[in-house]
Amino acid sequence: MIAKGTKIKPAEGKLGVLIVGLGAVATTFIAGVEAIKKNKSKPIGSLTQIGRIRLGRRTEERNPLIKEFVPLASLNDLVFGAWDIFPDNAYEAAVKAQVLKSEDLLPIRAELESIKPWKAVFDPNYIRKIEGPNVKTGKNKKDLADQIIADIEKFRTEKNISRLVMIWCGSTEVYITPQEVHKNIKNFEKGLETNDSSIAPSMIYAYAALKSKISYCNGAPNLTVDIPALQELALENHCAISGKDFKTGQTLMKTILAPGLKARMLGIDGWFSSNILGNRDGEVLDDPDSFKTKEESKLSVLDNILQPELYPDLYGHLYHKVRIHYYPPRGDNKEGWDNIDIAGWLGYPMQLKIDFLCRDSILAAPLVLDLVLFTDLAQRAGMKGIQEWLSFYYKSPMTAPGLYAEHNLFIQEMKLKNTLRYLMGEEQITHLGLEYYE
Ligand SMILES: NC(=O)c1ccc[n+]([C@@H]2O[C@H](COP(=O)([O-])OP(=O)(O)OC[C@H]3O[C@@H](n4cnc5c(N)ncnc54)[C@H](O)[C@@H]3O)[C@@H](O)[C@H]2O)c1
Repeated sequence: MIAKGTKIKPAEGKLGVLIVGLGAVATTFIAGVEAIKKNKSKPIGSLTQIGRIRLGRRTEERNPLIKEFVPLASLNDLVFGAWDIFPDNAYEAAVKAQVLKSEDLLPIRAELESIKPWKAVFDPNYIRKIEGPNVKTGKNKKDLADQIIADIEKFRTEKNISRLVMIWCGSTEVYITPQEVHKNIKNFEKGLETNDSSIAPSMIYAYAALKSKISYCNGAPNLTVDIPALQELALENHCAISGKDFKTGQTLMKTILAPGLKARMLGIDGWFSSNILGNRDGEVLDDPDSFKTKEESKLSVLDNILQPELYPDLYGHLYHKVRIHYYPPRGDNKEGWDNIDIAGWLGYPMQLKIDFLCRDSILAAPLVLDLVLFTDLAQRAGMKGIQEWLSFYYKSPMTAPGLYAEHNLFIQEMKLKNTLRYLMGEEQITHLGLEYYE
């Protein structure tokens, strides 16, 4: 275990951000960083940029900005590289994604145009609804992994980069479960040579990153690093891994509301979530097998928060349903409806309706920034393997085997902040506070 107040290497030099998938989320993230660097916008939604952390007793009034408390990389030191199956540069991709207005994109056009995606590792069996020409060919999956490693090394040298983090912002792959080839790194490497069909493209990228001693974050619900083989490699090469699936719209609301209802011991009989979205993500999720990956990720949340086994009278019969509908006219501006049937004193029923008119990539972009910066911090602090303290950002947080995932946003926030306090040698905050009344 990392020691309290451990020595963290300084954030010197450039931090390379390797992004798989230069679509709506990735371009909104990059454009945001460039706009913030030019002082044209504020980093709203980013804990690393505007969040503060309380230290010590309440009376001490120490509330530094997180970015001043822990040694994070500066936005000016970020350098972006990406892979995509479409050859569009980041400006063209951002225009096509239709998330940001041209008045926001034009001032940073040159910076975005300079980011041209490398050829992708793609398999139409894993993502069925889209195809593009910017794709690598190779004699087997090992060869494809080697090509990714070569892209990374070229980028590292050409841009004079001192550290790197890889983050998956690509589409959602079809649902798969762990197989023999995923059991250990020996099987996995053999599977790369023999083109084992259970090795997904996302695993090839993650393998290439970990092999290059680069940490990996998984923004989609794909299985990727949730397999023993890549977890073994992460530990062996001292890399941090985290995932899965950015927690943004409807699920974010669920993990804010459900803990509150439960704290008041209100029952929940049913929770129906439905949403419409029309971006490329929605198109990919229109494939039932990709939707299944997403559905698994979204469904696990309530059970964990509500603990029906401990509270059978309140949550034993909860009916939870999640639907996503691809509806092109809405583009990235998703609308999500939740109907929640709750029960109060003497079982009297009540209903709660939420209509969340959100913007998918606007909610996801600051999460990408925070994950990149915190993962780089973890690397420099010598933290390796699964980073459960980053579960704050994910719908399906990864945990050590046998541990249930913590979904309650407020517990996740406390875990994240206490981890930062621990790293910096500060006391944990328990919120006990009895000492103020003695
Ligand atoms: N926006 C959100 O709120 C949110 C929340 C949680 C998860 N996610 C996930 O984040 C991912 C990105 O979302 P988005 O809205 O940007 O989608 P998008 O479709 O706009 O972008 C994904 C990009 O990945 C590319 N891609 C697909 N397979 C690839 C491969 N093998 N290699 C390289 N590139 C590949 C696609 O061509 C596309 O440009 C999706 O998996 C989505 O489910 C998004």
